[in-house]
Amino acid sequence: MSLRTVPTTPFPGQKPGTSGLRKQVKVFQQPHYLENFVQSIFDVLEGSAGQTLVIGGDGRYYNREAIQIILKMAAANGIGQVLLGQGGILSTPAVSCLIRKYGAYGGIILSASHNPGGPEGDFGIKYNIGNGGPAPETVTEAIYARTQTLDRYCILDAPDIDLDRLGEQRLGSLAVRVIDPVADYLGLMQRLFDFDQIRDYLASGIRIVFDAMHAVTGPYARAILQGSLGAPQSSVLNGVPLPDFGGGHPDPNLVYARELVELLFGEDGPDFGAASDGDGDRNMILGRKFYVTPSDSLAVLAANAQQVPGYREGLAGIARSMPTSQAADRVAVQLGIPCYETPTGWKFFGNLLDAGKVTLCGEESFGTGSNHLREKDGLWAVLFWLNILAVRRQTVQQIVEEHWRTYGRNVYSRHDYEGLDTTVAQELMENLRRSLPGLVGQSYGSQTVAYADDFSYTDPVDGSTSSHQGIRIGFENGSRIVYRLSGTGTQGATLRVYLEQFEPDPAKQGLDPQIALAGQIQLADHLAQIRARTGRQQADVIT
Ligand code: G1P
Ligand code: ZN
Repeated sequence: MSLRTVPTTPFPGQKPGTSGLRKQVKVFQQPHYLENFVQSIFDVLEGSAGQTLVIGGDGRYYNREAIQIILKMAAANGIGQVLLGQGGILSTPAVSCLIRKYGAYGGIILSASHNPGGPEGDFGIKYNIGNGGPAPETVTEAIYARTQTLDRYCILDAPDIDLDRLGEQRLGSLAVRVIDPVADYLGLMQRLFDFDQIRDYLASGIRIVFDAMHAVTGPYARAILQGSLGAPQSSVLNGVPLPDFGGGHPDPNLVYARELVELLFGEDGPDFGAASDGDGDRNMILGRKFYVTPSDSLAVLAANAQQVPGYREGLAGIARSMPTSQAADRVAVQLGIPCYETPTGWKFFGNLLDAGKVTLCGEESFGTGSNHLREKDGLWAVLFWLNILAVRRQTVQQIVEEHWRTYGRNVYSRHDYEGLDTTVAQELMENLRRSLPGLVGQSYGSQTVAYADDFSYTDPVDGSTSSHQGIRIGFENGSRIVYRLSGTGTQGATLRVYLEQFEPDPAKQGLDPQIALAGQIQLADHLAQIRARTGRQQADVIT
C-alpha cells in the first residue's frame, strides 16, 4: 500500500445545490471528477485527522465504486475510522443517526435522493457535519471554492475493501468497520414509538403496504415492519434495492409511486399505504382512497404528537419550509408554540433543532422529521402515523378530516414544470421579480395582493442571511402563490409553483384541490406567463 498524490485540475460547476452535489452518473465517472470533490471536502475539514466518518449510500449505480475511492482517499487524508453500512448501504436518516450516536466527526452520503439511477441516471454526494445534518452553506461554499483551485488529491493505492463482510478491515492507518445498516436506526425508532401498541394494532386485521421503490428503505422496512412489528410479507413492495431502482423514479408521490396509489385507491385496498424515496428520507402517506398532503401530514403529526412516547412532553416549536402550507402554523397557534418559516432544504432546520427551538420540521416535498435526527426521515414518519392510528383507532381519512374541521383546511398543491430551457426559466423568474413592486394592492377576482417579495431568511440562531429563496405572492385572505426554480435537478430547469388557499367551511373542505384551486392556478399562470413563456400547457407533475 502506498500513498499517491495525483495532480489534477478543477472541474467547473462542482457547486452543491439544495442537497449536495448531484450530476449525471456519466459526469461522476469522468476521471478525477469524484476524487476532486472528495479531496475538496477533506481539505476544508479542519481537525479531521484520526476522526470517525460515517459513509454509506442509497445503493444506486456507481455507489460501490464511489465508496471504494472515498475509502482510499479517507485513508490517505488521515481519517482514523470509517463506519460503513454493509454493502455500502445506509439510508440518509441512518447516516444521521449513526453520526449522532457514535459522535462521529461527520459523514458522506452517496445519493441523488429521488432522482432516477442507473448508468443513464444521476449520482450524488453530500457531506454531513457532526450534528448529523447536511453541511450548512458556509461549509458547502468553502468546499465549492476549494474545488475551483484544487491541483492535487491524495489516495491510497490498495486493494478494494470487502463491502459486504461485517467487522473491521484496514486500509493503512484507517480502520473500516462494516456495520449492519439497520440495527442502530431500529433501536432509535423503538425508543420513540410504542412498538407493542403498533404490533397489536396491526394484528387486529389492519392492512398496511409500504413501497420501498427498489431503493434503500427495503431492508429497513423489512426489519422494522415485518421483523419487529409482525406485518406480513405482503406489506413491503419493491423491497430489494436495485442499482437502477428497477427502472423507476424513486420519488414517493402520486405520479411516481403509481403502483402503490393504484392499490390504495383500488377496490378493497389496504388501510394504510406509504412510500419512501431513493435514500429513505422522504415519505408519502395514504389512507384507503385518501391522499395526505405532506403539509397536512406535518400538521397532523404536530397536533397528535403527545400521543406518541417520544413526544409526550410536547413540542418546543415547529418549522416548515416557506413553500409548505401554513396548516402547521395553525396547530402551532393552538399549542402556543412558535412556527418558523425557513427556505427550502433541510439544512435550514439544523440550527433551530440544535438550539432546541423546534421539535418537528417538514417540507411540502414529502419531507418530515424531528429533533431525533438532523435529516428528514421517511420510515420515522410512517411509524409516527402508525403509532397515532394505533392510539386513535380511526382511519387516516377520519383523522385528517377531523383535523380540517378543527383547524380549517389549507388546500394545497404543487405544480412542477420539468426540463425547461434554463434561459427561459430564468427569464420567467426575472420578469416576475421585476413585476413584484407593482403587484401589492392589486385585486384579482375577490383576492387582493397583500405582499409580493423574493423570500429572504435570517437564521435566528447564527444571524446568517439567505436571499432569493423563492417568490411569494400573498393575498389578504391568506392564500399564496409561490414560485421557485429547483436546486436539485440535473437537466435543464424545473419551475415549481406552489398554490395554497384556506378553506374554513367544512362543507367545502372535501373538494378536489385541483378544482378548489382552479382560480389560483389560472392566476399563477397569468402572473408569471408560464404557458406563454414555456410553451407548456400544463404541469408535468402535480402533487
Ligand atoms: C427539492 C425539494 C426540497 C428538498 C430537496 C431535497 O429541492 O423541493 O424541499 O429539500 O428536494 O430533498 P428543489 O429541487 O426544489 O430545490
Ligand atoms: Zn431523499
